[in-house]
Amino acid sequence: MEDLAPKPGDLEAIETASRDEISALQLERMTWSLRHAYENSPFYRRRFDAAGVHPDDCRSLEDLAKFPFTTKQDLRDSYPFGMFAVPRERINRLHASSGTTGKPTVVGYTAKDLDVWGQVVVRSLRAAGARPHMMLHNAYGYGLFTGGLGVHAGAERMGMAVVPISGGMTERQVQLIEDFKPEVITVTPSYMLAILDQFRAMGLDPRLSSFQVGIFGAEPWTEEMRKEIEQAFDMHAVDIYGLSEIMGPGVACECVETKDHLHVWEDHFYPEVIDPETGKVLPDGEEGELVFTSLTKEALPMIRYRTRDLTRLMPGTARSLRRMAKVTGRSDDMIILRGVNVFPTQIEEQIFRVDGLSPHYQIHLEREGRLDTMTVHVEVEAGADVDGLAPLGKELSQMIKRNIGVSAAVVLEPSGGIERSMGKAKRVVDSRKRG
Ligand code: DLL
Repeated sequence: MEDLAPKPGDLEAIETASRDEISALQLERMTWSLRHAYENSPFYRRRFDAAGVHPDDCRSLEDLAKFPFTTKQDLRDSYPFGMFAVPRERINRLHASSGTTGKPTVVGYTAKDLDVWGQVVVRSLRAAGARPHMMLHNAYGYGLFTGGLGVHAGAERMGMAVVPISGGMTERQVQLIEDFKPEVITVTPSYMLAILDQFRAMGLDPRLSSFQVGIFGAEPWTEEMRKEIEQAFDMHAVDIYGLSEIMGPGVACECVETKDHLHVWEDHFYPEVIDPETGKVLPDGEEGELVFTSLTKEALPMIRYRTRDLTRLMPGTARSLRRMAKVTGRSDDMIILRGVNVFPTQIEEQIFRVDGLSPHYQIHLEREGRLDTMTVHVEVEAGADVDGLAPLGKELSQMIKRNIGVSAAVVLEPSGGIERSMGKAKRVVDSRKRG
Protein backbone atom coordinates (compact mmCIF):
# COMPACT_ATOMS: atom_id res chain seq x y z
CA MET A 1 0.00 0.00 0.00
CA GLU A 2 1.17 3.52 -0.80
CA ASP A 3 2.42 5.94 1.86
CA LEU A 4 -0.28 8.60 1.74
CA ALA A 5 0.58 10.57 4.90
CA PRO A 6 0.30 14.32 4.28
CA LYS A 7 3.37 16.51 4.68
CA PRO A 8 3.25 18.71 7.81
CA GLY A 9 3.15 21.81 5.59
CA ASP A 10 -0.10 20.59 4.01
CA LEU A 11 -2.06 20.76 7.26
CA GLU A 12 -4.21 23.65 8.49
CA ALA A 13 -2.85 25.49 11.54
CA ILE A 14 -5.67 24.19 13.76
CA GLU A 15 -4.66 20.57 13.07
CA THR A 16 -1.40 21.10 14.93
CA ALA A 17 -2.55 23.79 17.40
CA SER A 18 -2.03 23.47 21.15
CA ARG A 19 -4.89 22.41 23.42
CA ASP A 20 -5.08 25.94 24.84
CA GLU A 21 -5.41 27.45 21.39
CA ILE A 22 -8.14 24.98 20.46
CA SER A 23 -10.07 25.57 23.70
CA ALA A 24 -9.86 29.35 23.36
CA LEU A 25 -11.24 29.22 19.84
CA GLN A 26 -13.98 26.80 20.92
CA LEU A 27 -15.12 29.04 23.76
CA GLU A 28 -15.24 32.08 21.54
CA ARG A 29 -17.26 30.21 18.92
CA MET A 30 -19.49 28.46 21.49
CA THR A 31 -20.51 31.80 22.94
CA TRP A 32 -21.34 33.04 19.45
CA SER A 33 -23.31 29.90 18.61
CA LEU A 34 -25.41 29.97 21.80
CA ARG A 35 -26.21 33.65 21.28
CA HIS A 36 -27.01 33.14 17.63
CA ALA A 37 -29.38 30.27 18.48
CA TYR A 38 -31.05 32.21 21.29
CA GLU A 39 -31.49 35.42 19.37
CA ASN A 40 -32.52 34.03 16.02
CA SER A 41 -34.33 30.74 16.59
CA PRO A 42 -37.58 30.98 18.58
CA PHE A 43 -37.21 27.26 19.27
CA TYR A 44 -33.95 27.74 21.17
CA ARG A 45 -35.17 30.88 22.94
CA ARG A 46 -38.15 28.95 24.33
CA ARG A 47 -35.92 26.02 25.26
CA PHE A 48 -33.28 28.07 27.05
CA ASP A 49 -35.89 30.20 28.82
CA ALA A 50 -37.74 27.09 30.00
CA ALA A 51 -34.48 25.68 31.35
CA GLY A 52 -33.63 29.00 33.00
CA VAL A 53 -30.36 29.47 31.10
CA HIS A 54 -29.07 32.33 29.00
CA PRO A 55 -26.10 32.42 26.59
CA ASP A 56 -24.33 34.73 29.08
CA ASP A 57 -24.20 31.78 31.50
CA CYS A 58 -21.57 30.12 29.29
CA ARG A 59 -18.20 31.36 30.55
CA SER A 60 -16.23 28.15 30.15
CA LEU A 61 -16.53 25.10 27.91
CA GLU A 62 -17.83 23.10 30.88
CA ASP A 63 -20.73 25.55 31.25
CA LEU A 64 -22.25 24.06 28.11
CA ALA A 65 -23.57 21.27 30.36
CA LYS A 66 -26.09 23.76 31.79
CA PHE A 67 -27.87 23.95 28.44
CA PRO A 68 -30.70 21.63 27.37
CA PHE A 69 -30.26 18.84 24.83
CA THR A 70 -31.74 18.83 21.35
CA THR A 71 -33.08 15.62 19.78
CA LYS A 72 -34.22 14.27 16.45
CA GLN A 73 -37.77 14.56 17.73
CA ASP A 74 -37.29 18.33 18.08
CA LEU A 75 -36.39 18.49 14.40
CA ARG A 76 -39.42 16.40 13.48
CA ASP A 77 -41.71 18.54 15.61
CA SER A 78 -40.51 21.69 13.88
CA TYR A 79 -40.78 20.23 10.36
CA PRO A 80 -39.78 21.60 7.96
CA PHE A 81 -37.95 24.82 8.91
CA GLY A 82 -39.06 25.59 12.46
CA MET A 83 -35.61 25.46 14.04
CA PHE A 84 -33.81 27.54 11.43
CA ALA A 85 -32.03 30.64 12.69
CA VAL A 86 -31.83 32.55 9.40
CA PRO A 87 -34.60 33.75 7.05
CA ARG A 88 -35.59 31.31 4.30
CA GLU A 89 -33.98 33.60 1.74
CA ARG A 90 -30.53 32.96 3.16
CA ILE A 91 -30.79 29.18 2.78
CA ASN A 92 -28.64 27.86 -0.07
CA ARG A 93 -29.12 24.12 0.25
CA LEU A 94 -31.50 21.69 1.91
CA HIS A 95 -30.98 18.05 2.76
CA ALA A 96 -33.26 15.60 4.54
CA SER A 97 -33.12 12.17 6.07
CA SER A 98 -35.86 9.79 5.10
CA GLY A 99 -36.25 8.19 8.51
CA THR A 100 -38.15 4.97 8.93
CA THR A 101 -41.17 6.46 10.66
CA GLY A 102 -42.91 9.80 10.59
CA LYS A 103 -41.76 12.97 8.97
CA PRO A 104 -38.27 13.37 7.56
CA THR A 105 -35.85 15.66 9.32
CA VAL A 106 -34.85 18.64 7.22
CA VAL A 107 -31.55 20.48 7.51
CA GLY A 108 -30.48 23.71 5.83
CA TYR A 109 -27.23 25.51 5.00
CA THR A 110 -26.28 29.10 4.25
CA ALA A 111 -23.52 29.87 1.75
CA LYS A 112 -21.12 30.17 4.68
CA ASP A 113 -22.26 26.81 6.09
CA LEU A 114 -21.56 25.19 2.72
CA ASP A 115 -18.14 26.81 2.74
CA VAL A 116 -17.33 25.38 6.18
CA TRP A 117 -18.65 21.98 5.12
CA GLY A 118 -16.38 22.08 2.07
CA GLN A 119 -13.43 22.94 4.30
CA VAL A 120 -13.99 20.05 6.71
CA VAL A 121 -14.51 17.61 3.85
CA VAL A 122 -11.19 18.73 2.32
CA ARG A 123 -9.57 18.20 5.71
CA SER A 124 -11.12 14.75 5.96
CA LEU A 125 -10.13 13.69 2.45
CA ARG A 126 -6.57 14.86 3.02
CA ALA A 127 -6.42 13.01 6.36
CA ALA A 128 -7.64 9.88 4.57
CA GLY A 129 -4.85 10.16 1.99
CA ALA A 130 -6.59 11.83 -0.97
CA ARG A 131 -4.65 14.48 -2.91
CA PRO A 132 -5.66 17.17 -5.44
CA HIS A 133 -4.22 15.32 -8.44
CA MET A 134 -6.21 12.16 -7.74
CA MET A 135 -9.54 11.00 -9.14
CA LEU A 136 -12.47 10.19 -6.84
CA HIS A 137 -15.17 7.62 -7.59
CA ASN A 138 -17.97 8.93 -5.37
CA ALA A 139 -20.51 6.17 -4.86
CA TYR A 140 -22.32 7.76 -1.91
CA GLY A 141 -25.91 8.46 -2.89
CA TYR A 142 -26.63 11.86 -4.45
CA GLY A 143 -29.86 13.59 -3.50
CA LEU A 144 -31.35 14.47 -0.16
CA PHE A 145 -28.80 12.22 1.58
CA THR A 146 -25.75 14.32 2.51
CA GLY A 147 -23.14 11.72 1.49
CA GLY A 148 -22.98 12.25 -2.27
CA LEU A 149 -23.11 16.04 -2.55
CA GLY A 150 -21.19 16.62 0.68
CA VAL A 151 -18.17 14.61 -0.41
CA HIS A 152 -18.50 15.89 -3.97
CA ALA A 153 -18.24 19.57 -3.03
CA GLY A 154 -15.22 19.02 -0.80
CA ALA A 155 -13.39 16.89 -3.35
CA GLU A 156 -13.90 19.47 -6.11
CA ARG A 157 -12.74 22.18 -3.77
CA MET A 158 -9.59 20.19 -3.10
CA GLY A 159 -8.99 19.96 -6.83
CA MET A 160 -9.73 16.29 -7.37
CA ALA A 161 -11.44 14.95 -10.49
CA VAL A 162 -14.80 13.72 -9.24
CA VAL A 163 -16.85 10.94 -10.83
CA PRO A 164 -20.38 11.53 -9.43
CA ILE A 165 -21.53 7.96 -9.90
CA SER A 166 -23.87 7.71 -6.84
CA GLY A 167 -25.11 4.25 -5.76
CA GLY A 168 -26.44 1.41 -7.89
CA MET A 169 -25.77 -0.17 -11.29
CA THR A 170 -22.83 -2.00 -9.82
CA GLU A 171 -21.62 -3.59 -13.03
CA ARG A 172 -21.36 -0.19 -14.70
CA GLN A 173 -19.53 1.13 -11.63
CA VAL A 174 -16.89 -1.56 -11.95
CA GLN A 175 -16.54 -0.95 -15.68
CA LEU A 176 -15.95 2.77 -15.07
CA ILE A 177 -13.45 2.00 -12.32
CA GLU A 178 -11.56 -0.20 -14.76
CA ASP A 179 -11.68 2.44 -17.50
CA PHE A 180 -11.11 5.68 -15.53
CA LYS A 181 -8.70 4.29 -12.92
CA PRO A 182 -9.66 6.42 -9.89
CA GLU A 183 -7.23 6.35 -6.94
CA VAL A 184 -9.94 7.02 -4.34
CA ILE A 185 -13.42 5.63 -3.70
CA THR A 186 -16.01 6.99 -1.26
CA VAL A 187 -18.91 4.66 -0.49
CA THR A 188 -20.65 2.88 2.37
CA PRO A 189 -18.63 -0.15 3.48
CA SER A 190 -21.56 -2.47 2.76
CA TYR A 191 -21.85 -1.26 -0.82
CA MET A 192 -18.07 -1.64 -1.21
CA LEU A 193 -18.62 -5.35 -0.61
CA ALA A 194 -21.15 -5.44 -3.43
CA ILE A 195 -18.55 -3.76 -5.67
CA LEU A 196 -16.00 -6.36 -4.58
CA ASP A 197 -18.35 -9.19 -5.53
CA GLN A 198 -18.92 -7.56 -8.90
CA PHE A 199 -15.17 -7.36 -9.57
CA ARG A 200 -14.93 -11.09 -8.98
CA ALA A 201 -18.08 -11.86 -10.97
CA MET A 202 -16.51 -10.04 -13.94
CA GLY A 203 -13.34 -12.07 -13.59
CA LEU A 204 -11.28 -9.05 -12.49
CA ASP A 205 -8.61 -9.15 -9.80
CA PRO A 206 -9.54 -6.40 -7.30
CA ARG A 207 -5.90 -6.24 -6.10
CA LEU A 208 -4.98 -4.90 -9.52
CA SER A 209 -7.56 -2.09 -9.34
CA SER A 210 -6.38 1.54 -9.40
CA PHE A 211 -7.61 2.21 -5.85
CA GLN A 212 -5.14 3.47 -3.28
CA VAL A 213 -7.67 4.39 -0.61
CA GLY A 214 -11.34 3.91 0.21
CA ILE A 215 -13.10 6.31 2.57
CA PHE A 216 -15.99 4.52 4.21
CA GLY A 217 -18.75 5.75 6.47
CA ALA A 218 -22.46 6.46 6.97
CA GLU A 219 -22.87 3.15 8.83
CA PRO A 220 -20.95 1.13 11.42
CA TRP A 221 -18.24 -1.24 10.22
CA THR A 222 -15.68 -3.36 12.03
CA GLU A 223 -11.90 -3.72 12.06
CA GLU A 224 -12.46 -7.17 10.52
CA MET A 225 -14.26 -5.54 7.61
CA ARG A 226 -11.35 -3.10 7.25
CA LYS A 227 -8.89 -5.99 6.97
CA GLU A 228 -11.09 -7.77 4.45
CA ILE A 229 -11.41 -4.71 2.20
CA GLU A 230 -7.74 -3.71 2.52
CA GLN A 231 -6.57 -7.18 1.59
CA ALA A 232 -9.07 -7.69 -1.18
CA PHE A 233 -8.19 -4.42 -2.96
CA ASP A 234 -4.63 -3.90 -1.70
CA MET A 235 -5.61 -0.40 -0.57
CA HIS A 236 -6.12 1.64 2.58
CA ALA A 237 -9.58 1.65 4.18
CA VAL A 238 -10.29 4.72 6.28
CA ASP A 239 -13.33 5.65 8.39
CA ILE A 240 -15.27 8.90 7.90
CA TYR A 241 -18.11 9.98 10.18
CA GLY A 242 -20.82 12.56 10.02
CA LEU A 243 -24.52 13.20 10.38
CA SER A 244 -26.87 15.51 8.54
CA GLU A 245 -28.12 17.27 11.67
CA ILE A 246 -24.60 18.51 12.39
CA MET A 247 -23.37 18.89 8.77
CA GLY A 248 -23.04 15.66 6.78
CA PRO A 249 -19.90 13.62 6.06
CA GLY A 250 -16.73 15.23 7.41
CA VAL A 251 -17.55 15.82 11.07
CA ALA A 252 -14.71 13.43 11.97
CA CYS A 253 -12.26 11.30 10.00
CA GLU A 254 -9.43 8.86 10.52
CA CYS A 255 -5.89 9.65 9.42
CA VAL A 256 -4.46 7.18 6.93
CA GLU A 257 -1.04 7.21 8.60
CA THR A 258 -2.39 5.98 11.95
CA LYS A 259 -5.90 4.53 11.40
CA ASP A 260 -6.43 4.87 15.11
CA HIS A 261 -10.02 6.15 15.30
CA LEU A 262 -11.43 9.43 14.05
CA HIS A 263 -10.23 12.97 14.67
CA VAL A 264 -13.21 15.21 15.39
CA TRP A 265 -12.99 18.59 13.65
CA GLU A 266 -13.77 20.15 16.99
CA ASP A 267 -13.05 23.70 15.89
CA HIS A 268 -16.50 23.49 14.23
CA PHE A 269 -18.29 20.67 16.08
CA TYR A 270 -17.90 20.53 19.86
CA PRO A 271 -18.22 16.95 21.14
CA GLU A 272 -19.40 15.73 24.55
CA VAL A 273 -20.03 12.17 25.67
CA ILE A 274 -22.88 11.68 28.12
CA ASP A 275 -24.41 8.89 30.12
CA PRO A 276 -27.49 8.15 27.99
CA GLU A 277 -29.58 7.39 31.10
CA THR A 278 -28.76 10.37 33.30
CA GLY A 279 -27.57 12.90 30.70
CA LYS A 280 -24.44 13.56 32.80
CA VAL A 281 -21.28 14.53 30.91
CA LEU A 282 -18.68 11.76 31.13
CA PRO A 283 -14.93 12.33 31.29
CA ASP A 284 -12.87 11.65 28.15
CA GLY A 285 -12.15 7.97 27.79
CA GLU A 286 -15.53 6.75 29.06
CA GLU A 287 -18.03 5.31 26.64
CA GLY A 288 -21.45 6.89 26.26
CA GLU A 289 -23.66 8.78 23.83
CA LEU A 290 -22.06 11.35 21.58
CA VAL A 291 -23.51 14.86 21.74
CA PHE A 292 -22.54 17.65 19.37
CA THR A 293 -22.82 21.43 19.52
CA SER A 294 -22.23 23.29 16.27
CA LEU A 295 -19.80 26.17 16.77
CA THR A 296 -20.03 27.99 13.46
CA LYS A 297 -23.27 26.92 11.78
CA GLU A 298 -25.61 29.72 10.76
CA ALA A 299 -28.74 28.20 9.21
CA LEU A 300 -29.43 25.47 11.73
CA PRO A 301 -27.42 25.80 14.92
CA MET A 302 -27.43 22.58 16.91
CA ILE A 303 -27.00 22.91 20.62
CA ARG A 304 -26.15 19.68 22.44
CA TYR A 305 -27.64 17.41 19.79
CA ARG A 306 -27.99 13.82 21.00
CA THR A 307 -26.66 11.65 18.18
CA ARG A 308 -27.55 8.24 19.75
CA ASP A 309 -24.13 7.08 18.56
CA LEU A 310 -22.04 5.33 21.18
CA THR A 311 -18.36 6.18 21.45
CA ARG A 312 -15.69 7.68 23.69
CA LEU A 313 -13.40 10.68 23.33
CA MET A 314 -9.61 10.37 23.33
CA PRO A 315 -6.69 12.78 22.96
CA GLY A 316 -5.37 13.55 19.49
CA THR A 317 -2.51 11.61 17.89
CA ALA A 318 -1.74 12.41 14.23
CA ARG A 319 -3.60 15.72 14.74
CA SER A 320 -4.06 17.87 17.85
CA LEU A 321 -7.83 17.62 17.69
CA ARG A 322 -9.43 14.99 19.91
CA ARG A 323 -10.49 11.62 18.57
CA MET A 324 -13.74 9.69 18.87
CA ALA A 325 -13.63 5.90 18.90
CA LYS A 326 -14.98 4.20 15.77
CA VAL A 327 -18.77 4.05 16.23
CA THR A 328 -19.72 0.42 16.54
CA GLY A 329 -23.42 1.05 17.04
CA ARG A 330 -26.24 3.42 17.78
CA SER A 331 -28.36 3.04 20.86
CA ASP A 332 -31.30 2.64 18.43
CA ASP A 333 -29.66 -0.37 16.75
CA MET A 334 -28.94 -2.17 19.96
CA ILE A 335 -30.74 -5.46 20.03
CA ILE A 336 -31.92 -6.49 23.47
CA LEU A 337 -32.39 -10.19 23.30
CA ARG A 338 -33.60 -11.75 26.50
CA GLY A 339 -31.74 -9.17 28.50
CA VAL A 340 -28.45 -9.30 26.60
CA ASN A 341 -27.43 -6.23 24.61
CA VAL A 342 -26.10 -7.05 21.15
CA PHE A 343 -24.96 -4.79 18.33
CA PRO A 344 -25.04 -5.99 14.72
CA THR A 345 -21.29 -5.24 14.51
CA GLN A 346 -20.63 -7.88 17.17
CA ILE A 347 -22.33 -10.45 14.97
CA GLU A 348 -20.30 -9.16 12.01
CA GLU A 349 -17.07 -9.78 13.94
CA GLN A 350 -18.03 -13.42 14.49
CA ILE A 351 -18.99 -13.92 10.85
CA PHE A 352 -15.52 -12.83 9.77
CA ARG A 353 -14.03 -15.50 12.00
CA VAL A 354 -15.71 -18.37 10.16
CA ASP A 355 -13.91 -19.36 6.98
CA GLY A 356 -16.28 -19.98 4.11
CA LEU A 357 -18.86 -17.33 5.09
CA SER A 358 -19.22 -14.02 3.25
CA PRO A 359 -19.72 -10.70 5.04
CA HIS A 360 -23.26 -10.31 3.64
CA TYR A 361 -25.67 -10.80 6.53
CA GLN A 362 -28.96 -9.74 8.03
CA ILE A 363 -30.34 -10.34 11.50
CA HIS A 364 -34.00 -11.27 11.91
CA LEU A 365 -35.74 -10.88 15.25
CA GLU A 366 -38.98 -12.64 15.93
CA ARG A 367 -41.25 -13.40 18.84
CA GLU A 368 -42.36 -16.95 19.43
CA GLY A 369 -44.89 -16.95 22.23
CA ARG A 370 -43.20 -14.83 24.83
CA LEU A 371 -39.70 -15.67 23.69
CA ASP A 372 -37.64 -13.44 21.42
CA THR A 373 -35.52 -15.25 18.87
CA MET A 374 -32.65 -14.14 16.69
CA THR A 375 -31.81 -15.67 13.34
CA VAL A 376 -28.68 -14.65 11.48
CA HIS A 377 -29.00 -15.01 7.73
CA VAL A 378 -25.56 -15.09 6.16
CA GLU A 379 -24.34 -15.85 2.68
CA VAL A 380 -21.74 -18.50 1.97
CA GLU A 381 -18.80 -17.50 -0.19
CA ALA A 382 -19.49 -16.84 -3.84
CA GLY A 383 -19.53 -20.04 -5.87
CA ALA A 384 -20.01 -22.32 -2.86
CA ASP A 385 -22.99 -24.66 -2.59
CA VAL A 386 -25.07 -24.14 0.55
CA ASP A 387 -25.87 -27.84 0.74
CA GLY A 388 -23.20 -29.58 2.68
CA LEU A 389 -22.01 -26.43 4.43
CA ALA A 390 -24.28 -26.85 7.47
CA PRO A 391 -21.25 -27.17 9.79
CA LEU A 392 -20.38 -23.52 9.03
CA GLY A 393 -23.76 -22.43 10.34
CA LYS A 394 -23.28 -24.50 13.44
CA GLU A 395 -19.83 -23.04 13.97
CA LEU A 396 -21.15 -19.46 13.71
CA SER A 397 -23.98 -20.21 16.09
CA GLN A 398 -21.48 -21.58 18.62
CA MET A 399 -19.16 -18.60 18.21
CA ILE A 400 -22.06 -16.20 18.83
CA LYS A 401 -23.08 -18.12 21.94
CA ARG A 402 -19.54 -18.33 23.26
CA ASN A 403 -18.36 -14.79 22.51
CA ILE A 404 -21.53 -12.71 22.82
CA GLY A 405 -23.62 -14.89 25.12
CA VAL A 406 -26.83 -15.13 23.09
CA SER A 407 -28.46 -18.02 21.26
CA ALA A 408 -28.92 -17.44 17.57
CA ALA A 409 -30.09 -19.71 14.80
CA VAL A 410 -28.08 -19.40 11.60
CA VAL A 411 -29.54 -19.74 8.12
CA LEU A 412 -26.99 -20.08 5.32
CA GLU A 413 -27.95 -18.31 2.14
CA PRO A 414 -26.55 -18.86 -1.33
CA SER A 415 -24.44 -16.08 -2.81
CA GLY A 416 -26.74 -13.16 -3.64
CA GLY A 417 -29.43 -14.42 -1.25
CA ILE A 418 -29.28 -11.29 0.87
CA GLU A 419 -30.49 -8.05 -0.63
CA ARG A 420 -27.61 -5.70 -1.44
CA SER A 421 -27.79 -2.17 -0.15
CA MET A 422 -26.79 0.68 -2.42
CA GLY A 423 -26.24 2.91 0.60
CA LYS A 424 -26.70 2.08 4.23
CA ALA A 425 -27.25 -1.63 4.79
CA LYS A 426 -30.32 -2.78 6.65
CA ARG A 427 -28.76 -5.11 9.20
CA VAL A 428 -31.75 -5.84 11.41
CA VAL A 429 -35.29 -6.87 10.50
CA ASP A 430 -37.31 -6.71 13.69
CA SER A 431 -40.73 -8.34 13.44
CA ARG A 432 -41.24 -8.35 17.19
CA LYS A 433 -42.88 -4.95 17.25
CA ARG A 434 -45.85 -6.04 15.16
CA GLY A 435 -49.11 -6.50 17.00
O1 DLL B 1 -24.61 9.21 7.07
C1 DLL B 1 -23.45 11.29 6.70
C2 DLL B 1 -22.31 10.55 6.09
C3 DLL B 1 -22.29 10.31 4.74
C4 DLL B 1 -21.24 10.15 6.87
C5 DLL B 1 -21.21 9.65 4.16
C6 DLL B 1 -20.15 9.50 6.31
C7 DLL B 1 -20.14 9.24 4.95
P1 DLL B 1 -27.03 10.60 8.14
O2 DLL B 1 -27.71 9.93 7.02
O3 DLL B 1 -27.69 11.75 8.81
O4 DLL B 1 -25.63 11.16 7.68
O5 DLL B 1 -26.71 9.48 9.21
C8 DLL B 1 -25.96 9.76 10.35
O6 DLL B 1 -25.06 7.52 10.38
O7 DLL B 1 -25.55 9.30 13.43
C9 DLL B 1 -24.34 7.33 12.61
O8 DLL B 1 -25.30 6.58 13.30
C10 DLL B 1 -24.18 6.78 11.21
N1 DLL B 1 -22.80 6.97 10.75
C11 DLL B 1 -22.29 7.92 9.94
N2 DLL B 1 -20.97 7.72 9.75
C12 DLL B 1 -20.62 6.62 10.46
C13 DLL B 1 -19.41 5.90 10.68
C14 DLL B 1 -24.60 10.43 7.15
N3 DLL B 1 -18.27 6.25 10.11
C15 DLL B 1 -25.74 8.51 11.16
N4 DLL B 1 -19.45 4.83 11.50
C16 DLL B 1 -24.84 8.74 12.35
C17 DLL B 1 -20.60 4.45 12.10
C18 DLL B 1 -21.79 6.14 11.11
N5 DLL B 1 -21.76 5.07 11.92
